[in-house]
This record gives sequence, structure tokens and C-alpha cells, in this order.
Amino acid sequence: MKGKIEIIPGDITTLAVDAIVNAANNSLLGGGGVDGAIHRAAGPELLAECRTLNGCATGDAKITAGYRLPAKHVIHTVGPVWHGGARGEPDLLRSCYRRSFEVAHGAGLRSIAFPAISCGVYGYPLDEACSIALEETKAALERYPELERVIFTPFGAEAEAAYRAALARVFGP
Ligand code: APR
Repeated sequence: MKGKIEIIPGDITTLAVDAIVNAANNSLLGGGGVDGAIHRAAGPELLAECRTLNGCATGDAKITAGYRLPAKHVIHTVGPVWHGGARGEPDLLRSCYRRSFEVAHGAGLRSIAFPAISCGVYGYPLDEACSIALEETKAALERYPELERVIFTPFGAEAEAAYRAALARVFGP
């Protein structure tokens, strides 16, 4: 199973996969960070489709087409804002991964790429977030055997190290 996981540092909008995951906000109407990068690369049709979705609850995920992106689809999920960890943030972040995998499964997708959800503007500590990402990925690979590739796209050396450490913790060295 570990062989299905890849850590590819860099810009998630460049990946030609079945879906890239967007770290969106509840409005689904775009923003900064990876949300801004995805909307810029996908073009205006992405926002037009997002307008029809009536937003997205924190911890939920919704799918759109990818438009001008090399990825076929975008799965928009809304991570929790970090408030110290005692306001349900871990469960909400777990839910982002679970729902993204569930939506991918429902659409028959085989490859999916994730940014570090909530680890930018929303302030979630990287190490804890990466552990959750890899734990939920392990569960998803067991639940959805049709999944062929799960890619993480760390932005920066610190994030890359956090993902590699989490991969070793969850899947063994
Ligand atoms: N490719 C991959 N990762 C990226 C990219 C990119 N092009 N751009 C940013 N990142 C990384 C950031 O470095 C961070 O590690 O994605 C992670 C998530 O950071 P944010 O994009 O700030 O997302 P998040 O912390 O979940 O905050 C969401 O920010 O952009 C707004 O509309 C968005 O309100 C929402 C909030």
C-alpha cells in the first residue's frame, strides 16, 4: 500500500491526476493560497460551477470539473481553522480527508493529490496535520482498493520533511 503514496513537492495545479484537492473556504468562491492558485489555473468556469454548489461545510467535500487544469476534477474541501486543538479541529480535519476520498470513490477516480489542508492561513500545525493525512490515507487505501495513486504536494522544505516523517510513522520506515 505504501507504494501507492507519493510525496511530490511543488505546485499541485501542475499535476495531471484524476483529482486535485482544494483547501477552500465555506463559500467555495475562491481565496488566496492554494485556493487562489487552483482558481487561477482552472479559469473562470471553475468559479461558475462553484457558485452552483451553495458553499461547503467545514469537514465536507464537493467535486467539480478541472477545466483548464491538467487534473480532470477538483475536490473542494474546507479545513478547520486551528484554535489550539480543543475545538474539534482534529476530527474536522480527518473528515476533510475521509470525505475527499469518499467523493473520489463515488466518482470512480484512481489518483488524487492533496495539499496540506489547513496548514497555511488556517494555522494547523504541520506535524499533526500530516499524521492525520497519512492515517486517513492508510484507511482509505484499505477501504478503496481501486485507488492507485495518492500524492501529497508539500510547499517548502519544512512541509516536505513533515510528510516524510508522517509517512514513516504511519507506514513504517
Ligand atoms: N500547491 C500546493 N500547495 C500549496 C500551493 C500550491 N500551489 N499554494 C499554497 N500551498 C500550501 C500552503 O503552503 C499550505 O501548506 O497549501 C497549504 C494550505 O494553505 P492555504 O492555501 O493557506 O489553505 P488553508 O490553510 O487550508 O486556508 C484556507 O485560505 O486561500 C484561503 O480560500 C482559502 O479561506 C481559505 C483559507
